[in-house]
Amino acid sequence: MPRPKVVITGACGLLGSHLMASLVRRFEVHGVDRHPWWGDEPMHVLIGELDEPAFFERAVQAEAPDILIHCAAWVNVDACEQEPSRAYAANAALTRRLVRAVGPHCLVVYLSTDGVFPGEAPLAREEDPTAPPTVYGRTKVQGEQEVAQATENHLIVRTNFYGWSSGRKTTFGEWLYRALARREPVTLFTDFFFTPIYVVDFVERLMRLLEGPCRGIVHLGGGDRRNSHC
Ligand SMILES: NC(=O)c1ccc[n+]([C@@H]2O[C@H](COP(=O)([O-])OP(=O)(O)OC[C@H]3O[C@@H](n4cnc5c(N)ncnc54)[C@H](OP(=O)(O)O)[C@@H]3O)[C@@H](O)[C@H]2O)c1
Repeated sequence: MPRPKVVITGACGLLGSHLMASLVRRFEVHGVDRHPWWGDEPMHVLIGELDEPAFFERAVQAEAPDILIHCAAWVNVDACEQEPSRAYAANAALTRRLVRAVGPHCLVVYLSTDGVFPGEAPLAREEDPTAPPTVYGRTKVQGEQEVAQATENHLIVRTNFYGWSSGRKTTFGEWLYRALARREPVTLFTDFFFTPIYVVDFVERLMRLLEGPCRGIVHLGGGDRRNSHC
């Protein structure tokens, strides 16, 4: 019996790389990223730009996945603020092309963010109205809408995670850990709350979600509500 085929965009990023390493045990996993794979275990990763039609066709359309996990995004919140149209193209328009390219049988998993909420409110529920305070958050809401309009067979997972990545980009968690280890002063926030989850725990819970029957919007966070920048 062939194993279900999973295509993971953003496969070499923080979340994508952890997903690749875990899902490969149960699925036929194909990664897509503009950067090369960096883990010890060899993985099937196509390297290229999803904005380029020929690469998009080869990496997504031709693969006809059973599950698409869309992690690729422009995640630099400050840069998105400076270039809203580029943020829209990276986070919403690409999502629209992806969800239209895969068949209706395909489960689309869209990685969204707690940044669809303002951050100063108590814990948010899935049915709460979104009110993103940033361009990044707005484009992620637009990405959510593209997914929800295209197919009922979706999981929109709003989250905030931390963990170790390739080292190519310093994640917030890595920056904080190193600053504290060097006993450097750090400036954080007191008026912004989030509930981050360790990326390994996130992957384990997402794998359970893939089995169903839960579909639609899901909030997946850690056990502690923190105040800080994320
Ligand atoms: N990190 C968090 O705590 C957090 C919180 C909430 C939601 N999310 C969401 O979770 C997802 C994964 O986040 P992450 O932190 O793992 O991101 P990440 O480390 O930046 O990984 C994303 C990867 O996708 C690549 N990529 C982006 N656009 C691409 C394109 N058009 N073609 C080919 N590759 C492309 C990126 O390359 P570049 O690095 O060159 O852009 C990067 O290697 C994102 O959708 C993000 O919005 C993350």
